[in-house]
Amino acid sequence: MSKQKKIVIANWKMKLGFDESVKLARELAENYKEHEDVEVVICPSAIALARVAEAIKDSPLKLGAQQIFYHENGSYTGQVSPAVVREIGAEYAIIGHSEQRKLGETDDDVNRKIQAALRNDLIPVVCVGETFEQYQQKKTDVVIIQQVTAALADIKLQKNQKIILAYEPVWVIGSGQAVEHNVVEHIVQIIIHSTLDLETNLVDKLQVIYGGSVDAGNVNEFIIGNLSTGVIVGNESLKAKNFLAILEKIN
Ligand code: PGA
Repeated sequence: MSKQKKIVIANWKMKLGFDESVKLARELAENYKEHEDVEVVICPSAIALARVAEAIKDSPLKLGAQQIFYHENGSYTGQVSPAVVREIGAEYAIIGHSEQRKLGETDDDVNRKIQAALRNDLIPVVCVGETFEQYQQKKTDVVIIQQVTAALADIKLQKNQKIILAYEPVWVIGSGQAVEHNVVEHIVQIIIHSTLDLETNLVDKLQVIYGGSVDAGNVNEFIIGNLSTGVIVGNESLKAKNFLAILEKIN
């Protein structure tokens, strides 16, 4: 894979209020010292997107949505339009997070949402990962291959498009205990191999990252040469001090 800019994605989930989101965004915008080769993406909840966009607009921080629907417009009560998300200024969209899959999002939904993201000029951040049960049954590799293949079925990328695939072991998320970096290395290889049959050149347009209990102490274990070039951060992105510490630690 070609050399890629590293990426750090803050996933605030549904853990902050509206004012808290704007305050944290302002704090980050004021205190983040740009690293040229690191892209930093903030993903607030959908209702805070517009105000967070406003708060970070003069900073190098980028905006992402935690969720999008696979149609742009129509009678879809309660859904988040990828077109509106883009209009607000987001450049990324998390898709297939295990917390959404748990609520019923299917592999087919994930595939359609990736297509919707690409149509609307959003970079999809597609999460894949095994549950604890699957891990115990030693099914991790099979689950990853199946999720990646289903997510990327029939996806064709234009020259300027890319997809980020995030390996997020479900049982590690929010546990405070990340996996060993050699596990991540192995899974990244699995992810890359499972994309080889899909479409020529897709592999050159993929960026693979890791998520699950990342903190300032372990972040560099998950940025592994050209293999894994970024992280998704949940809990440790909710306080400016902790998130900035992660950004400062990145080599
Ligand atoms: P965590 O969350 O850093 O709190 O484990 C990561 C995620 O869910 O994306």
